[in-house]
Amino acid sequence: MTEPDIAYGELTFQDSHPGQIAAVATLLGFTPPPVNTARVLELGCGTGFNILAMSQALPNARFTGIDYSPVQIERALASASAVGATNIAFLCESILDFAAEPASFDYIIAHGVYSWISGETRDALMAIIERCLSPNGVAYISYNTYPGWRSRIVARDVLTFFAQPGATPEERVRLGREGAARLIPAITNPESLYGQTLQAEVAPLLNAPDYYLAHEYLVENNFPTYFQDFTAHAARFNLQYLAESRLLANSFVLGSDLRKALDENAGPDILRREQYLDFLIGCYFRQSLLCHAGVPINRDIEAERILPLSVSLTAEILDVQPDAWRIRSHIGAEFTVDDKPIVKILELLRQHGPAPVPTHVFMQPIIDALSMHAVAALGGTIIAGILLAGWSRGLWILRADTPAVVNAASAKPIACPLARLQSQRTTRCTNRLHRTITLTADEQALLQQLDGTRDIEPSPALARLAAEGFLIA
Ligand SMILES: C[S@@+](CC[C@H](N)C(=O)[O-])C[C@H]1O[C@@H](n2cnc3c(N)ncnc32)[C@H](O)[C@@H]1O
Repeated sequence: MTEPDIAYGELTFQDSHPGQIAAVATLLGFTPPPVNTARVLELGCGTGFNILAMSQALPNARFTGIDYSPVQIERALASASAVGATNIAFLCESILDFAAEPASFDYIIAHGVYSWISGETRDALMAIIERCLSPNGVAYISYNTYPGWRSRIVARDVLTFFAQPGATPEERVRLGREGAARLIPAITNPESLYGQTLQAEVAPLLNAPDYYLAHEYLVENNFPTYFQDFTAHAARFNLQYLAESRLLANSFVLGSDLRKALDENAGPDILRREQYLDFLIGCYFRQSLLCHAGVPINRDIEAERILPLSVSLTAEILDVQPDAWRIRSHIGAEFTVDDKPIVKILELLRQHGPAPVPTHVFMQPIIDALSMHAVAALGGTIIAGILLAGWSRGLWILRADTPAVVNAASAKPIACPLARLQSQRTTRCTNRLHRTITLTADEQALLQQLDGTRDIEPSPALARLAAEGFLIA
């Protein structure tokens, strides 16, 4: 087993956040453990930024990260100590050896790990989940999938061809990238299906970061899998498929045309439907949620289930006219919103955010906006339906946690310590809602100042940092 020593990037992954995972599980009639006080384990945590950012925003939850790479765990421990984290432990340990008490974690995360480990380690990973997940706990596993990875495998083979075995990891990345760059313009039949596929798969890798090439393409193990094989593997460990952690990736939120195609070709079984969906879209990556077999799941979606959750704005607001808002959804679609209740919800989210806003806050304003006082008793059902529709259009997401974040700056503002640390090296920083936000140079410089010791004048940069959820005072 090789151990790459190019540290993986200091990245965070919103879809792996228990607040989002629990929200999707709740929609499926499942009662997951409370997130604010959850016990969270990340397997193959790399440099630890993902759970470190979660641990900062959820001070009453407890986090454990394991990785077998000493380089990565050293960096994780250094970051945790730099931000004074007290609710997180990082252990340099292999998934093969990890031993913890039964049912001792409520959420288990394995991002970017399952496809990159040997079959024996994949079995060990599933066995950890089977043993250590609490009865209603949820595990998140991301993995490369076929059919999408069928063509990417060729790009991997090209890079590996040039990267000499035995060279240092940095050298292998350089050789692989340089060899691929020479190959692309020399392809003899660039218009052929092969030529086009290779160009499409290899060209983006020429400028990709070293850690990405080292861990995704030049790593010893990269075993994509079909969804149906992944779920069969999970079933051997008494685990069942729950859903995809990103709501919009689930077959049950598809538009009616795709749903019809699934009905006709895959029937009612969720596993066949999801596999057929992968064939339809050429899926290459999944972020699947698992729970213990036998735990009841109700896929007849009832919007009211989301009423205990909170709403977090994820769309970008491009232009505001009195009754029509121009929006870019978090999946990149631009459109104008002029439905009264949706405009009202956007207004309220701007007013109450960036902290997730409990659904009850929307109740009376929407009853007023729609003049539906005569049928106010139906308010919950109607509002839940509207909130679910906005979630499935990428306007906002629903969350089951209450991250520690304030909506406005104090006279001596304090920003999240981890975001301050990140801002020393990058403009892409993680906010308290676990989203990666790109800052301007002014905002980046200001973020580094916000340690609570300085009087800071109001400014557009400070207002943006507050609106984007970076402040804790
Ligand atoms: C592709 S990286 C993903 C890192 C991190 N989860 C992320 O997504 O940013 C895979 C990680 O799994 C770790 N890993 C691989 N095999 C492992 C094992 N047997 N035990 C523990 N960690 C392992 C590697 O060291 C590496 O940090």
